[in-house]
Amino acid sequence: MLIDGHGREVTYLRVSVTERCNFRCQYCMPDKPFSWVPQENLLSFEDLFAFIKAAIDQGITKIRLTGGEPLLRADLDRFIRMIHDYAPDIDLALTTNGYLLSDVAQKLADAGLKRLNISLDSLKPAVAAQIAQKNVLGKVLEGIDAALAAGLKIKINMVPLKGINDNEIIDVMEYAKERGIEIRFIEYMENALAKDGLKGLLGKEILEKVREKYPIKKIGRSGSSPSFTYELEDGYRFGLIDPHKHDFCETCNRIRLTAEGYLIPCLYFDEAQSIKDSVEAGDIDGAVATLKTVLADKPKENRWSDEESETSNRAFYETGG
Ligand code: GTP
Ligand code: 5AD
Ligand code: SF4
Repeated sequence: MLIDGHGREVTYLRVSVTERCNFRCQYCMPDKPFSWVPQENLLSFEDLFAFIKAAIDQGITKIRLTGGEPLLRADLDRFIRMIHDYAPDIDLALTTNGYLLSDVAQKLADAGLKRLNISLDSLKPAVAAQIAQKNVLGKVLEGIDAALAAGLKIKINMVPLKGINDNEIIDVMEYAKERGIEIRFIEYMENALAKDGLKGLLGKEILEKVREKYPIKKIGRSGSSPSFTYELEDGYRFGLIDPHKHDFCETCNRIRLTAEGYLIPCLYFDEAQSIKDSVEAGDIDGAVATLKTVLADKPKENRWSDEESETSNRAFYETGG
């Protein structure tokens, strides 16, 4: 069992397989980074897998592959199959922007992927293009259709931004609802890399917009999820992720691994320790010892707040969101 310094059991490992991305979302990577991490600095699938096996043996039961855009990493299905074959019961999921999904959805499902979370911030081509700084909507919608056809369980993530897509909260929710997909609205988390002047809606403002059309009932948080569940009168359930309240930190069960091998104890914080040298030297016990050190120092909570929005210096595309 993996327990952090605040007594929380850690069972969820998020693995970013690349920091590269084919979108330039205003809230994440508005500009191409000065340089990408050189390919040779990335942990190979074999090395990542060696660590993942040890992490599973230590008590990890849920693994999510993230990026950047994880589908940019070649042969991702091979990596998924490695994890699936080792632990078929693990909750194995992927977070993607959906752009490259239509051609590979079936292959990912066949490899053992169970769930997909896909970002969909707008249903208007021009607005989607404004946010991602690229004409993306058609391909993303095709990707969602292909994933549904492949039998993958999907959630949609939407980040409502003031004056940009905040008038589409109902439309995107209805798109998800019609397809039996859960949507989660995520508060924009201020970070040093995002576009200047960008403003997100707070959770309460998002709920007000939904209430303009639908009465909603509070359900609750399920387990350690950062998402709080709400229900419409017809039983449709949606989620809200509101880090500015950071009340989900109390039950946080997650740890993040970057493509370069840094273990990051919290999305907000800068502290990180590398397992790269240990794993590449075949010293898995050393990597597990580093994991335990990082967990011992895991912060109690993030520092975004309702009153004053602090800014994180960590790039979401490195940590995988
Ligand atoms: P499920 O397994 O479906 O519950 O997915 P998830 O919510 O863990 O994964 P996803 O990648 O869809 O995460 C949605 C977003 O919620 C993340 O990208 C972050 O923006 C935010 N989020 C998730 N975990 C944390 C967290 O620990 N802290 C903060 N501040 N935000 C988080
Ligand atoms: N604030 C909130 N959500 C963000 N994401 C990326 N950057 C931010 C941010 N600054 C979300 C994306 C995607 C998930 C991986 O992280 O919308 O759905
Ligand atoms: Fe890429 Fe996702 Fe960041 Fe958008 S939010 S730039 S799709 S990593």
